Amino acid sequence: MEIQSIGPPNEFLSIDGPASVRVIDGRLYVLGAEYGPGSSFTVMRGRRIIAKSLSECKIEAVLGPEGKIETVNGANEVIDIWDKALSTIRLRNSTVVVMGAMDVGKTTVTTILVNKGVKEGLKVGGVIDGDPGGQNDIGPPTTISASIATGFITHLTQLRNLRSIFVKTTSIEHVWDYVLNSMTKMVNELWRNYNVDAVVINTDGWISEENAIKFKLELARRTGANHAVVIKRGDESTDLIKELMKIAVNVITIPSPPPNARVRDRDDRKIRREMGYSKYLMPSRELNVNLREKPIVNLPLFNGLRYDNYITRLIRRSLNMAIHYIEQWRGGAAVAIGNVKEFQIRNIGGVNIAILPMNWERGGLLVALEDRDNYLLSLGVLRKIYYNTGKAVISVPKTFINEGLVDHIRLGMIRVNDNYEEVEKVLYINRIESLLSSQNILESSN
Ligand SMILES: Nc1ncnc2c1ncn2[C@@H]1O[C@H](COP(=O)(O)OP(=O)(O)O)[C@@H](O)[C@H]1O
Ligand SMILES: [Mg+2]
Repeated sequence: MEIQSIGPPNEFLSIDGPASVRVIDGRLYVLGAEYGPGSSFTVMRGRRIIAKSLSECKIEAVLGPEGKIETVNGANEVIDIWDKALSTIRLRNSTVVVMGAMDVGKTTVTTILVNKGVKEGLKVGGVIDGDPGGQNDIGPPTTISASIATGFITHLTQLRNLRSIFVKTTSIEHVWDYVLNSMTKMVNELWRNYNVDAVVINTDGWISEENAIKFKLELARRTGANHAVVIKRGDESTDLIKELMKIAVNVITIPSPPPNARVRDRDDRKIRREMGYSKYLMPSRELNVNLREKPIVNLPLFNGLRYDNYITRLIRRSLNMAIHYIEQWRGGAAVAIGNVKEFQIRNIGGVNIAILPMNWERGGLLVALEDRDNYLLSLGVLRKIYYNTGKAVISVPKTFINEGLVDHIRLGMIRVNDNYEEVEKVLYINRIESLLSSQNILESSN
């Protein structure tokens, strides 16, 4: 245990987690919240939080292995600039969306806005975490989540997860239209069913491409955001800001923290995500799912038309390929498991046939078990499909109990190994989905 005195007012403390801090005397400003005598907060491992004394302070801290507390020169800190800019937002009845490139402080600003709402006495603050590749903030990786804040927090993880939606991957550029629909749906639901006073939306760091900007603009527009907070680092967000200025949203631009702030690299993110998957999925058990009753929505099997032997033989001959399984979808296209190395779509007599290799599901494709409103019940890992019985074996967390609510399965685009490490991005799922929507089988994700 470490006891430290800080002060006079306006002294800055840099706190690296893991750390647990209790205020003994005085008042401390932390992420939009104020902590007085007796109150405490925690900083997670691998995260850094800057605190500011509002008076002479005495604190006691318990530090974990990499935990560290030191006073820093406030001249470079953005706390006051952020606080001043964010204080211009009237949170009640507002929807605020936070945008910026990777690692500029979006999640931190979201946390500050949540705390400001709590401090203003807002009855309920809705929070949407829209970064499926983030550091496992509210829900597990590959999901976006909605929650409600009722007290001060230092990390979004401390919020209770109300609902999550599985978006198949952590790379938003492949699924942004589905993410857009899903975030809009959750924001509407927070307003309609949860009686919130404000909604704060955290986003991913994809902002530099044309589609990224289109996605962010649509997000602001469709969620009815009144304020967009853009964290600016260099001119990474110049184009985004320019476009946001053209729509009916109040744009607030703030600087990113100084570069000495810890910057996570891609590997670090990936490791955190993997920890996220295993944290969520382990210990696991195997669940048998009858795909005739609970179909895979983005690769339906066992609900279509089986060809008779004659037609099957014709298809075999014309593909010049051994076919292990084949069925025709309602819309006319077909799906087959055949002797191919890689996924392919072949056309025979005007019929598109999606052909998957034998054992395409092996190795562990990330999937979601969803309810009939497409909300996540549980993540899982697809292990095996039995074509003779139409059954699938899926690993799910041991604690998963809502089997009865499962309406369907959704395939993800990430393959994980036995240690829940990402080993492959399975991009052909998108091609199957396009084929399905062209057949009006899968509701178009646009
Ligand atoms: N004002 C700040 N000073 C120093 N470090 C900060 C500050 N704000 C955020 N950080 C650190 O910067 C990193 C990235 O912040 P985060 O909010 O997760 O960014 P993003 O959500 O944009 O990826 C985190 O490790 C965080 O602890
Ligand atoms: Mg983030």
